[in-house]
Amino acid sequence: MSRDSLVLHQNRPSFSDRLIKLLLQARSMAILTGAGISAESGVPTFRGPDGLWKTYRPEDLATPEAFAHDPRLVWEWYDWRRQLIARCQPNPGHYVLAEWERRFKDFLLITQNVDGLHRRAGSSRMVELHGNIWKVRCLREGAVMENYEAPLKEIPPHCPCGGLLRPEVVWFGEPLPVEALRQAYAAAERAELFFSIGTSAVVQPAASLPLVAKQCGAYVVEINRDPTPITPMVNESFQGAAGPILEELSQTLRRISS
Ligand code: OAD
Repeated sequence: MSRDSLVLHQNRPSFSDRLIKLLLQARSMAILTGAGISAESGVPTFRGPDGLWKTYRPEDLATPEAFAHDPRLVWEWYDWRRQLIARCQPNPGHYVLAEWERRFKDFLLITQNVDGLHRRAGSSRMVELHGNIWKVRCLREGAVMENYEAPLKEIPPHCPCGGLLRPEVVWFGEPLPVEALRQAYAAAERAELFFSIGTSAVVQPAASLPLVAKQCGAYVVEINRDPTPITPMVNESFQGAAGPILEELSQTLRRISS
């Protein structure tokens, strides 16, 4: 056995019988994801030593006031992020979650990510709580359109009607999309099994979803590189990179099911 595989073996997470049984038998499952699930694809997270909010101030770039003050600056930052994300591919963690939506009758993937990587991995039963970086909204007509131009030809970009376009993402101080939030809470309340993956669980209201699920009787599992404020209250917590842990879990399920 090589040294690497020995290390991998030692780090192999061990999953409880309860978790395996629920993954095989539960009818309802909800999953909350954050920037950590896309970290292995090369998308920067927000917090932590290499996080975007270490280099940039959210109030300069991710608020309606910042956009009103300097739409060019805000769009330059979004254009940079869109170019970066355009070079990234979904990783094994995204693919496992796309596969899981086919296992459960009642399933919802709730993501705070705007990168669109879950959809590119094949997820469709999902809501994007913080919007999508590949959509834009016309400030004159309110129309929302897909826009995959990276780099943008014009900064700030304009709608064919002449109105200024903004990224269709949720900024600090703005409400979340009402229907997406309603679906997210309803799924958390119904879930027998709830996963929180790759989120620091500090931004509300998303951070309250695992707690709502737990209060309503779900078995709550966290997969995250670092401990978070919800770690002490979850039923099972795995600390490490989401992709390998999800793959390991998925392989365990396949072994048992075959
Ligand atoms: P954060 O950057 O706050 O947290 C990412 C979490 O992922 C951290 O707890 C890391 O420990 C963990 N992590 C990093 N790499 C990982 C990996 N490979 N596997 C598993 N976990 C890993 O991102 P979010 O929780 O998504 O909102 O942040 C929530 C919101 O805050 C974002 O949607 C964004 C931000 O400000 C807005 O812009 C409105």
